[in-house]
Amino acid sequence: MPQGQTKADLVHNLKEAIRSEKITGSFYKYIAEHVENGYIKKTFNRFAQEEATKHKDLLQERLTGLTGETYEPDLTKMDVPLKENGFSLSSAAKAAKESEVSAIEFYKLARDQDDPEYKQMYDDIIKDEKQHSLYLQQDKLFEEEKQLFKDSLGVKLFALFTAGSA
Ligand SMILES: [Fe+2]
Ligand SMILES: [Fe+2]
Repeated sequence: MPQGQTKADLVHNLKEAIRSEKITGSFYKYIAEHVENGYIKKTFNRFAQEEATKHKDLLQERLTGLTGETYEPDLTKMDVPLKENGFSLSSAAKAAKESEVSAIEFYKLARDQDDPEYKQMYDDIIKDEKQHSLYLQQDKLFEEEKQLFKDSLGVKLFALFTAGSA
């Protein structure tokens, strides 16, 4: 472990990262479930898998190697508002974009904090996060969002009319 860094710091940071990967995975899954375009859907499903499975598993393995413990964050409190409160596609994309930027910074830091033998693991994760970040910067995503907004507005109006005629 590099000087000035404690094992406790690294353990704490790994747990935060595991939680963050799971949350970002949920955002991507949510986006994948709500877009019409098959290619965009496929891409976000792949991103969701990379965060919530690939990255999370790598970090969990590293945590277990350090402490012998497993850590599975409970996101039930977050998953509910995401699904039931109609989190908009653009806010999910915005949250994911912010999360990617901080993930890249975080993994660069963790790479220096951890033993050099794990450098490649962090570099692989950083490579994926950079791809995610670039993809989210495309304007095309927001064309899809406009469509979704139109659809949900239609559903709300329909509900209003049927409620009035009951
Ligand atoms: Fe990730
Ligand atoms: Fe990512």
